[in-house]
Amino acid sequence: MDNDSSSRIVTALREWISGSGPGARLPTSRMLVTEYGASPVTVQKALRTLVAQGLIETRPGAGTFVRAVRMARPLDYSWQTAAMRSPQSRISALGGAMRPAPQGAIALHSGYPDRELLPERLIRSALARASRSEAALTRSPVAGLPELQSWFAHELGVATPVGVTPPLPSDVIVLPGSQSGLATIFRALVTAGQPLLMESPTYWGAIQAAAQVGVEVIPVPSGPEGPDPDALDRAFQETGSRVFYAQPTYTNPTGAQWSDTATAQILAVVRAYGAFLVEDDWAHDFGIDTQPHPVAARDDAGHVIYVRSLTKSISPSIRIAAVIARGPARDRILADRGAESMYVSGVLQAAALDVVTQPGWQTHLRNLRPQLRARRDLLLTSLHEYVPEAHVATVPAGGLNLWARLPDATDLDRLVAECEAAGVIIAEGSSWFPAEPTGPFIRLNYSGPNPGGFPDGARVIGQALTSHR
Ligand SMILES: Cc1ncc(COP(=O)(O)O)c(C=O)c1O
Repeated sequence: MDNDSSSRIVTALREWISGSGPGARLPTSRMLVTEYGASPVTVQKALRTLVAQGLIETRPGAGTFVRAVRMARPLDYSWQTAAMRSPQSRISALGGAMRPAPQGAIALHSGYPDRELLPERLIRSALARASRSEAALTRSPVAGLPELQSWFAHELGVATPVGVTPPLPSDVIVLPGSQSGLATIFRALVTAGQPLLMESPTYWGAIQAAAQVGVEVIPVPSGPEGPDPDALDRAFQETGSRVFYAQPTYTNPTGAQWSDTATAQILAVVRAYGAFLVEDDWAHDFGIDTQPHPVAARDDAGHVIYVRSLTKSISPSIRIAAVIARGPARDRILADRGAESMYVSGVLQAAALDVVTQPGWQTHLRNLRPQLRARRDLLLTSLHEYVPEAHVATVPAGGLNLWARLPDATDLDRLVAECEAAGVIIAEGSSWFPAEPTGPFIRLNYSGPNPGGFPDGARVIGQALTSHR
């Protein structure tokens, strides 16, 4: 089946429909096959699209007809805002990084890797096996399938140094993606109205989760080696906060990785305040020049709440992550998860477990490294060539993003709009700041489709920037 010829037929028929009145009868499928030189399957696909768009209807035995379009009268929902009153916090439905890219655009904004970077063969066979498994017909325990809990615990356990007690499978709570886990953790450990420290800049979704829960976010500036331990110490002291959210490994957006020394100092500060570090290890599988070293592996006293996601490395459609926590914190998080969603789909858990326990998974991860390296380097070189004004402070040793600072006078909204008009989608950096942005930044993701388009993408950004002067 050819998608292009199906959309060609859709376009032509839409034109035909607009010139015909309601009730007009479409040519038969056989006539359409002849007229467009397409296969019957392609014609059927085009007709199904038009039915879904509400433009035509099929009457069995009679044919296919143009539907009468009902005039939409303007509806007034203003009573709803009166009933709901002002929102407690303003969270937008979609971050800039989540907007869909028009077909053919060079998409540098999205956070999710292109399908050519996913283990497609492993996923398809895992889903087929999962559909035949017990998990397809039964309810998972609230904390997750025991075998998957064991796998997550083992993954952190292998990084645990001698002398530190590794986590138990029962410390693991499986999540339907880490995004909802962040809201749970903030709700369970910070609670509404209380202060939460966050690295800045940081993942926009964590900022959204904090807003959703109604906690007060306090930014802690972070550089290529992580936050300054003294600044973190002061922030704990001044705010009375007992929770710090951070991404020590390949931070989204900057790509920073905490040094060994910084990690030891930050952990010492967290311990000294009897506080929690929420470690978001979203990019564990995306090392390029270094290996990830989870901070949680160094802690057996329950100070680090560890979040590990598989949705970017397996598939955005197999939305599985886990939180590893010990002691009463684990119990509170589990209670929140139970109240929130009761349990995670067993089919997705079984499929995720199947993928990560196949020998092909390790091969896939090994092959991913050079691919990410080539993409990162091509985007960097393209930026240097076409956008010399862009300053990338950290060449990320892993992760999926470049974080570039543009000249101070840059009007980011205008730049993003101009690039988009020229077919290049970029993410404006302000969503990654919990408070005011500290400069005009853009985030460029090098894991999207069509890396061959990176030089063109950079050229368009460079031209848009020049037209500002
Ligand atoms: C730092 C970080 N944490 C968490 C998430 C959410 O991941 P998931 O797909 O597991 O919900 C993302 C997704 O972009 C992310 O970048």
